[in-house]
Amino acid sequence: MSHGPQNRNSHPTDAAIPVAEKRNEVDRSREPLFELRAISHSYGRNKAIFDVNLLVWPGEVVALVGDNGAGKSTLLKIFAGYLEPTSGSLRFMGEEVRFGTPARARALGIEAVYQDLAIVDQLSLWRNFFLGKEIARKIGPLQVLERRRMRREAETAIAKLGLTRIRSAEQPVWALSGGERQSVAITRAIYFGAKLLLLDEPTAALSVRETRNVLASIHQARDHGLGVLYIDHNMNHVLPVADRIVLLEHGRIVRTIDRGEVGVEELQELIARRAQNAES
Ligand SMILES: Nc1ncnc2c1ncn2[C@@H]1O[C@H](COP(=O)(O)OP(=O)(O)OP(=O)(O)O)[C@@H](O)[C@H]1O
Ligand SMILES: [Mg+2]
Repeated sequence: MSHGPQNRNSHPTDAAIPVAEKRNEVDRSREPLFELRAISHSYGRNKAIFDVNLLVWPGEVVALVGDNGAGKSTLLKIFAGYLEPTSGSLRFMGEEVRFGTPARARALGIEAVYQDLAIVDQLSLWRNFFLGKEIARKIGPLQVLERRRMRREAETAIAKLGLTRIRSAEQPVWALSGGERQSVAITRAIYFGAKLLLLDEPTAALSVRETRNVLASIHQARDHGLGVLYIDHNMNHVLPVADRIVLLEHGRIVRTIDRGEVGVEELQELIARRAQNAES
């Protein structure tokens, strides 16, 4: 595992991402959406996560930050059902859950969005949007797909997000950029009533415009009451969207920062300093 520089994803346009920093009140007197209790995880003899407790509320964006190898993706995979924790427990909407598989997590409304996954390149945008959840009508013994309706609904949902370059839901998905795919996937998750959205470095390698779209769709998800757990190395992206920032270091949560508590530079310094201390 490389412990490369923290800002490996940075590009010259990083500084100015004009995403509106909308106020968001998270009601933490409610039941948390998701909870990790005393979670540890080992890959064979390599222990990656140590006794982590983490809560995500509905309508809250939690950013996981930390140096390379800190355990961010591992935690996200536990949330998504890709990894079974070695010890500890998970609670979803007040009940203890054990996923075993990503499909079971998805069935509960936990949607992990990746740049390339869960999308069939050759199919049109609307077919991808409704993949596995097609609207069909029964005519006698036949199931007939309601193509026009699905196309229209996909177009309406995407238009609401303001992805202006997507002109037609008829276009194949291979013609979309990575950022557009993710925005579509996020819209899809909202449309189908997901409750928790998981994103692992969704803005890596995206242009400014695409980054803005992806961050705006994270805001949309939050405004629809979804909880969002989000990993990003770029603090310029994290700060405008996160309600809470959770700093991981060598598999442990070392600090939780509320919105507005620190600025970009302070946050960058904090992570760099911790990484330095850890190495020395
Ligand atoms: N499949 C795996 N098998 C063995 N060890 C793994 C595996 N995946 C991750 N690890 C180890 O677990 C630790 C945490 O890795 P993880 O990928 O969660 O870090 P991360 O915070 O997402 O890092 P990055 O910012 O580089 O993506 C690292 O020490 C890594 O080497
Ligand atoms: Mg990772």
